[in-house]
Amino acid sequence: MVSVLLSVAAFIGVAVGTVPAADPRIVGPYGNVPPVYPSPNITGIGGWAEALIKAETFLAQLTLEEKSGIVTGTTGPCVGNVGPITRLGFNGICIQDGPVAVREADYVSVFPAGITTAASWDRLLMYARGVAIGAEFKGKGAHVATGPVAGPLGRSAWGGRNWEGFSPDPYLTGVAMEQTIGGMQSSGVQATAKHFIVYEQETQRVPTYNYSTNATISITAVIQEAYSSNVDDRTMHELYLWPFANAVRSGVASVMCSYNRINGSYACENSKSLNGLLKEELGFQGYVMSDWGGTHSGMSSVEGGLDMDMGGGLGVYGTKLEPNYSFFGGNITAGVLNGTLPISRLDDMVKRIMTPYYLLGQDSNYPTIDISMGLLYSAIAGAPSSWVQGYQFGDPDRDVRADHNATIRAVGAASTVLLKNVNNALPLKAPKSIGVFGNDAGDDTNGAYALANWEYGTIAMGAGSGTGRFTYLVSPLEAIRARARNYGALVQFVLNNTLINSGLSTYIIPKEPDVCLVFTKTFGIEASDRATMDLDWDGNDVVESVAAVCSNTVVVIHSPGANNLPWSDHPNVTAILAAHYPGQESGNAIVDILYGDVNPSAKLPYTIAFDESDYNTVPSRSAVGNSTDPYAWQSWFDEKLEIDYRYFDAHNLSVRYEFGYGLSYTNFTLSSMSIVYLSNETITAAPAELPTAPGGNPALWEELYNVTVKLTNVGSVSGAQVPQLYLTMPSSTPAGTPPRQLRGFDKVFLQPNAASTVTFPLMRRDLSYWDVVLQEWIIPAGEFVISVGFSSRDIKVTSTLVVI
Ligand SMILES: *[C@@H]1O[C@H](CO)[C@@H](O)[C@H](O)[C@H]1NC(C)=O
Ligand SMILES: *[C@@H]1O[C@H](CO)[C@@H](O)[C@H](O)[C@H]1NC(C)=O
Ligand SMILES: *[C@@H]1O[C@H](CO)[C@@H](O)[C@H](O)[C@H]1NC(C)=O
Ligand SMILES: *[C@@H]1O[C@H](CO)[C@@H](O)[C@H](O)[C@H]1NC(C)=O
Ligand SMILES: *[C@@H]1O[C@H](CO)[C@@H](O)[C@H](O)[C@H]1NC(C)=O
Ligand SMILES: *[C@@H]1O[C@H](CO)[C@@H](O)[C@H](O)[C@H]1NC(C)=O
Ligand SMILES: *[C@@H]1O[C@H](CO)[C@@H](O)[C@H](O)[C@H]1NC(C)=O
Ligand SMILES: *[C@@H]1O[C@H](CO)[C@@H](O)[C@H](O)[C@H]1NC(C)=O
Ligand SMILES: *[C@@H]1O[C@H](CO)[C@@H](O)[C@H](O)[C@H]1NC(C)=O
Ligand SMILES: *[C@@H]1O[C@H](CO)[C@@H](O)[C@H](O)[C@H]1NC(C)=O
Ligand SMILES: *[C@@H]1O[C@H](CO)[C@@H](O)[C@H](O)[C@H]1NC(C)=O
Ligand SMILES: *[C@@H]1O[C@H](CO)[C@@H](O)[C@H](O)[C@H]1NC(C)=O
Repeated sequence: MVSVLLSVAAFIGVAVGTVPAADPRIVGPYGNVPPVYPSPNITGIGGWAEALIKAETFLAQLTLEEKSGIVTGTTGPCVGNVGPITRLGFNGICIQDGPVAVREADYVSVFPAGITTAASWDRLLMYARGVAIGAEFKGKGAHVATGPVAGPLGRSAWGGRNWEGFSPDPYLTGVAMEQTIGGMQSSGVQATAKHFIVYEQETQRVPTYNYSTNATISITAVIQEAYSSNVDDRTMHELYLWPFANAVRSGVASVMCSYNRINGSYACENSKSLNGLLKEELGFQGYVMSDWGGTHSGMSSVEGGLDMDMGGGLGVYGTKLEPNYSFFGGNITAGVLNGTLPISRLDDMVKRIMTPYYLLGQDSNYPTIDISMGLLYSAIAGAPSSWVQGYQFGDPDRDVRADHNATIRAVGAASTVLLKNVNNALPLKAPKSIGVFGNDAGDDTNGAYALANWEYGTIAMGAGSGTGRFTYLVSPLEAIRARARNYGALVQFVLNNTLINSGLSTYIIPKEPDVCLVFTKTFGIEASDRATMDLDWDGNDVVESVAAVCSNTVVVIHSPGANNLPWSDHPNVTAILAAHYPGQESGNAIVDILYGDVNPSAKLPYTIAFDESDYNTVPSRSAVGNSTDPYAWQSWFDEKLEIDYRYFDAHNLSVRYEFGYGLSYTNFTLSSMSIVYLSNETITAAPAELPTAPGGNPALWEELYNVTVKLTNVGSVSGAQVPQLYLTMPSSTPAGTPPRQLRGFDKVFLQPNAASTVTFPLMRRDLSYWDVVLQEWIIPAGEFVISVGFSSRDIKVTSTLVVI
């Protein structure tokens, strides 16, 4: 076993064209990590032709050293920097984290996290959030934002960065990617789809280095390499690549390759995934940027499809900060001069980087850089003057928030999932006496720039590079008090979890309140996977303690994903709300829901199992057999397509709250399904062979059927509902096909007694599986079952369509 793994991993840094030995456990052509060379050229398809001409004009004026500079990160005022070329009036490219805010910078908004936004299932809000995020990056002078996230997809419920992404369902994530990217780029900022690909755990995401050596170059100090995600070709296409196809189709400027290895070879030098899947199959026209320190070779990475080394001059992740060190930079120049690297490849890299810059008009009147984006870096490094040479700075501390608070609050409320509501607990009807409990209710005692798991304070975003600096954060307690003060209610609170669990709450609040609002939390952070799915700070005990003495206990959870909720059937727990990470308007958004100003309409974007032991996809927490072999760390995607609800459905397992589940204050019915075939031609199993465009073969995106249903609000209040379409493939589809897969949804707002026809267009891709032999998306023959309901397990209407 070890020798096999070694030979697979030996692909790292080997000469171009060497075929690594196949791991016998991985079947299919992709498992062989076939070399795919040369790296495809940008062609300008998909509306980029004019911008490409501008990029070529720019390229023609560059010296070899300048070209090497464009593809290599350097020191500067942003998280990532392409240096200015002042003689050409080029002010450089400022690349800034991250998915929820302009990282580091002051006077910015902190938006709801990806997983929060996904729970809204609302295309318009996804887009609006993207527009606002894009406007803030542009306002601060950042050209590129490193988001949104489709990797991790969320294979493992413990994944430390799942909250940055959207949902383990590729269809939902695909829609969220295209809406977010479309919104961001409409504001003139370049979006980055990250992290490419199968980056599904944090544990051992980067190599273990030997810090007792003085080596600053990672390779010489590596004890153990990053884990390898070992995934078969079909799973790659149907789950992990799927949302990136949506991202590329929506014109995303950049794709960031990830830290992990893929079937043995590092993601940023993996020619199959970068040259093959991304540039050839999906027709990606932009540039591949490495994650910071994700580059592990020079020439091999360039030939493998990497176009830009980040952070470049900021050194290699996990080693000492080494200014100006890079596998690129001078090595690119040397490679061209000694004939190893064709200049046409370097030219293509520069064109891929500069074309989106011109496409989005960033060459004229782009806002100057607000130095507040570099607060952390300058504090650490003392901001040597060389770091800011040639960059164009404007006023610092610019307020770019505009009216984005309205969108943030709307997304926050629209994404709060109502999991339980009995005894008419919610909405609240002006309770006179309110008890607020738990350490998640109040202000952060240690500051809200969440870098650690503080005991006291509400959590509204996760930690790591995907953070933002709150200009303000409305805590739940603050918003509840403001609301209750309007009608003279008594608000008492105990925020100390230890004290609540010692039973002392009844001493402090002797008379049982009309409602007890319990705020619980779970910390999520980049670079480490969750150790447990229990609520942090004994949150489960806090719920039990309050529910033991309060017959109307409403629980709110702020969390990066699923939790163990052993108390969910407790008779005194009358309502449960999963609010995820809502961003700066957290308190206002939850009050909107609690008091019924907004009717809940969110749906779980993942499954909540009865217990964490029910999930099948645990992170790989140690190397195989605890081997010290440098290449021994593996993550086997043996479950193939069976992640999240696909697994629970395939094995007929009960869950606590299923994928797609979420309650409302009103009631809806679904009826009258009809299916219309949209083409005037007979359906073929394989798509027409059209020239590849961004997103892949355009025939895959052709709408073949419209499925319509009638949705009626039969309750007494207005509200939105999300009918969801699940597809069951015919029995002729190869084994391992999940019983039901999401292939459509829409969020519809209705007044009481109003009805609406909801249409789900089904594209060719929606009806296809990836055939590993034919290397093609194929529509199987036979009967498809179309199910539409209010969750993955609450199906209301079904019908069939037959393909012969
Ligand atoms: C890319 O274009 C150059 C000409 O600029 C050509 O020499 C090279 O073969 C092309 N590469 C590919 C993969 O088509
Ligand atoms: C780390 O480096 C030191 C100094 O070179 C060496 O003595 C030690 O054996 C190395 N440790 C490992 C685990 O490689
Ligand atoms: C590391 O460098 C320091 C200072 O240059 C030197 O004193 C020390 O011996 C070196 N350690 C190793 C393990 O090479
Ligand atoms: C080129 O790469 C090597 C490592 O392979 C590194 O030591 C060197 O510093 C790099 N050169 C430049 C100019 O970045
Ligand atoms: C050419 O330069 C590249 C980059 O420094 C280096 O990796 C390669 O070994 C060199 N090849 C020759 C033949 O010198
Ligand atoms: C957003 O902020 C402005 C200015 O503080 C305020 O007037 C407005 O009410 C806020 N909007 C929402 C939806 O909270
Ligand atoms: C929380 O309550 C416990 C138990 O009463 C107490 O020991 C602790 O000091 C309290 N913490 C704070 C910050 O008040
Ligand atoms: C529910 O709350 C009441 C207080 O109103 C308490 O007497 C009862 O024991 C609680 N029920 C449970 C199951 O804890
Ligand atoms: C690996 O090490 C861990 C922690 O020491 C231990 O729990 C586990 O049993 C070991 N696994 C194997 C296969 O030896
Ligand atoms: C189908 O319709 C398209 C235009 O929508 C037309 O170009 C094509 O000829 C039609 N094909 C048949 C078989 O009628
Ligand atoms: C199919 O649905 C789309 C999207 O709702 C709509 O634009 C189109 O008109 C529908 N086509 C037919 C033939 O019903
Ligand atoms: C929804 O229907 C349930 C019974 O199915 C009923 O108890 C409840 O009152 C209805 N809710 C509304 C808001 O109409």
